[in-house]
Amino acid sequence: MHVGIIMDGNGRWAAKRGLPRPAGHRAGAAVVREIVEEAARSGIRVLTLYAFSSDNWRRPRAEVSAIMRLLRRHLASELPRCLANDVRLNVIGTRSRLDPPLVRAIEHAERATAGCRGLLLRLAVDYSARRAIAAAAQVAGPQDAFDQRLAAVTHALPGCGDLDLLIRTGGERRLSDFLLWESAYAELLFTATYWPDFSAREFCAALADFRGRDRRFGGIEARSA
Ligand code: IPE
Ligand code: IPE
Ligand code: MG
Repeated sequence: MHVGIIMDGNGRWAAKRGLPRPAGHRAGAAVVREIVEEAARSGIRVLTLYAFSSDNWRRPRAEVSAIMRLLRRHLASELPRCLANDVRLNVIGTRSRLDPPLVRAIEHAERATAGCRGLLLRLAVDYSARRAIAAAAQVAGPQDAFDQRLAAVTHALPGCGDLDLLIRTGGERRLSDFLLWESAYAELLFTATYWPDFSAREFCAALADFRGRDRRFGGIEARSA
């Protein structure tokens, strides 16, 4: 099973408390750990978390820097936990616009966890599904290899497959350029909870909701993914 999460609502969570937006991102980063551990326990094969979209570069410089710093710190601080929980890390997206120290932290974390065989945790950073699809379409090759080409242009490990469940927190009901190709038959779940307030408990409820749905993939009988 492949679950994707658009972790939205950090800024509004902070505003509600009279805090600066980066405080929301910090609180959001703490929730990531809880959800990753729950996903590993639940036997989910792939978890893709939308951390920073290619359109997020439009935000004020100070907020972008705060998010990037947080990402680098988070990668370093979570690495021992990933190893302990057999979690393999993979950062998908464009790397050329990221600061070299962040790129080094990404490469280090990916190398260090390359032998982990439990949950595959993918963080989408400077990620744009449209840009990825357009880039993959430029690469020559047989059409049936499109998934592999799409993986290659975003530094993704091959074979992650389609998204089964897409969760978006924060109350908006849109995809914001996240995994458009892979979401063709994804089950969508929107919650008004701001990401820093999301919890393992709500995550488990989302998984239970998913298990209760009929997926037909264009046919007439329900079948599993
Ligand atoms: C999601 O929260 C995190 C990122 C986009 C990096 P937001 O920062 O978008 O929070 P809201 O939507 O403004 O509340
Ligand atoms: C999507 O959230 C990106 C991430 C959660 C990383 P945004 O907050 O950037 O999306 P819009 O602008 O509301 O569509
Ligand atoms: Mg938002």
